[in-house]
Amino acid sequence: MREVKSLVEQLEANKRYLITSALPYANGPLHLGHICGAYLPADIYVRHLRKQGKDVVWVCGSDEHGAAITLRAKKEGISPRDIIDKYHGIIASAFEQFGISFDIYHRTSSDLHHETAQSFFSVLHDSDGFVRKESEQYYDEEHEQFLADRYITGTCPKCSHPSAYGDQCENCGSSLSPFDLINPISTLSGNTPVKKSTEHWYLPMDQHEEWLSKWLNTGELDGKNQHDPNEWKKHVLGQCRSWVDAGLQPRAMTRDLDWGVKVPLENAEGKVLYVWLDAPIGYISATKQWAKDNGKNWEDYWKSEDTELIHFIGKDNIVFHCIIFPILLKAHGDFILPKNVPANEFLNLEGFKFSTSRNYAVWLHEYLEDFPEKIDELRYVLASILPESKDAEFTWRDYQARVNNELVAILGNFINRAVVLTHKYFNGLVPERNNEIHSETLFQEIEQSIDKSSACVEAFKFREALSEAMNIARIGNKFLADEEPWKVIKEDEAKAKDIIHISLQIAIKCADALTSFLPGTSKKIHGILNLENGQELLAGHALNKAEILFKKIEDEEMEAQIAKLKANKMEEEAEVSTKDNISFEDFSNMDIRVGEIVQAEKIEKADKLLKLSVDLGHEKRTIVSGIAAHYKVEDLAGKKVVVLANLAPKKLRGVESQGMILMAEDTEGNLAFVSPEKEMKTGSEVR
Ligand code: 2FM
Ligand code: ZN
Repeated sequence: MREVKSLVEQLEANKRYLITSALPYANGPLHLGHICGAYLPADIYVRHLRKQGKDVVWVCGSDEHGAAITLRAKKEGISPRDIIDKYHGIIASAFEQFGISFDIYHRTSSDLHHETAQSFFSVLHDSDGFVRKESEQYYDEEHEQFLADRYITGTCPKCSHPSAYGDQCENCGSSLSPFDLINPISTLSGNTPVKKSTEHWYLPMDQHEEWLSKWLNTGELDGKNQHDPNEWKKHVLGQCRSWVDAGLQPRAMTRDLDWGVKVPLENAEGKVLYVWLDAPIGYISATKQWAKDNGKNWEDYWKSEDTELIHFIGKDNIVFHCIIFPILLKAHGDFILPKNVPANEFLNLEGFKFSTSRNYAVWLHEYLEDFPEKIDELRYVLASILPESKDAEFTWRDYQARVNNELVAILGNFINRAVVLTHKYFNGLVPERNNEIHSETLFQEIEQSIDKSSACVEAFKFREALSEAMNIARIGNKFLADEEPWKVIKEDEAKAKDIIHISLQIAIKCADALTSFLPGTSKKIHGILNLENGQELLAGHALNKAEILFKKIEDEEMEAQIAKLKANKMEEEAEVSTKDNISFEDFSNMDIRVGEIVQAEKIEKADKLLKLSVDLGHEKRTIVSGIAAHYKVEDLAGKKVVVLANLAPKKLRGVESQGMILMAEDTEGNLAFVSPEKEMKTGSEVR
């Protein structure tokens, strides 16, 4: 038994951790949604491991390639290089100020990264890991350029949203390929792109399906138990399974672009690595740089089974980290695969989605400017609402309530009372323990909270972990309220000393339990208690002066933030509504008529669409309309509507739509028919 134990201990001692957080695109600043996805949870996790003395390295960096960058450069009218330099700086300094404690924050534009990614590609290429294929792709003739997925927009075939991208519809979340789009448009010229043949290197994902599916579902890899799928989040496994079940397809690993890591082959002029091949290799190059700077061997962290690799990401990155990157790592050989990928869901903001392009966000760097002293306040609120297993929402009112009712009223209040009473009754010197009070149960309860909190962190349940840690402050407050030292001091000084001594011991426990969540506060508490880390609190020890840990947040501060968000939203809406002028001829070319809905029915497998039969006076038309979420089928017959009758017919879900019903839409996405304000004959012209 003893031997077994020492073996387990030995394994534990040899264990290393390699933690990665998604490399943010250097195309815009960070907002609170990003922080909740891949950074704050990882920071808490890593601080927790470091506290236990584990061998851990946490890597991250800017993702500086791909269309995300070149599109932004085009929008701002500066070069991609200027874009990445600008945003890399903003992002790196916001992370630092917010106490995100990466071991390295690297860049994919660095030489080391380019070399690493190229050599990774070459190894795969030389071992026949890719399949070279010619295929047709959209091409912009005016710009003489192939169009990466994000350079093409069009109508989503699934939900009819008019501005879906070539790889994804942000409205319904479907993943698309450019040829799926209805009426595709090049974002470079605004023209309809043409199809042109080009050659690329594909990762034959279909050939990896068998081992991958087994690995994901059972944790088994090369005959060994690599991870326990029960420890993975359900929504992560669910997404992976639905990808694998749909059948994996070969995926191009190169692109026709001039911004990125050049394909290291002859005859590959004008081709770069696909950004989703290049970016995760960024984790490897960042580790290499860190190892170089710190006299370590990077391979210990990527090629040893003693290392646990954990990817922190948001849910939009699941397929890349659980399917594509593992296939790449395995196909390359020698590399370990992730032990877990605790992806988070999305955070919303005051009822809407965060949006970088629409400037609807709480930007981290702006928060830090507005509230430079309130770093732990934000860490606390975000850690309390992390979208761990479902989407969550940030509101300023909730932020205020959590700071005032929890940080100020529970944690701040407890620490302050314990310290102030020590100064008031005992000149700031820790009183001796007289054993008049039995504190075993109290400290047992505290230890339980500490253990639970720690187990929750290790299971990626940070919200619960934080709440358990805060429980210690609750226990402290209740203890003071029950024991009432301010009364006891009058008749039983020995007992009052006991109460204060115990309270101060609880304060230390509090500071220790919260250190991974609120590092600044924990440090402050140690400062007030005048203790070095790990130093015991003995009778006679002199405390420093009490300091207010958290200030109450006033209504006005919140109102200002809410007003700022509203102003951004209105500005954006105003921008959206200014379209270019059109000629009278353009307008009069439109055949707009009053119609009457005669019949409505659902379309199979299309949640948002209805098939309508509309009477236009001289004829009946079939029109497919995306109103299923807004109207009941049975309420539609007899409604007067306005129809654009000469819109080119288009097949939607197998049904030909012969026109479009005009709808009004507000910023909240509510839809309503537009109809004549008094009774008009069907077929009447609108002009
Ligand atoms: O979604 C994103 O923001 C990507 N830049 C994440 C990359 S993660 C990793 F693979 F580098
Ligand atoms: Zn869609």
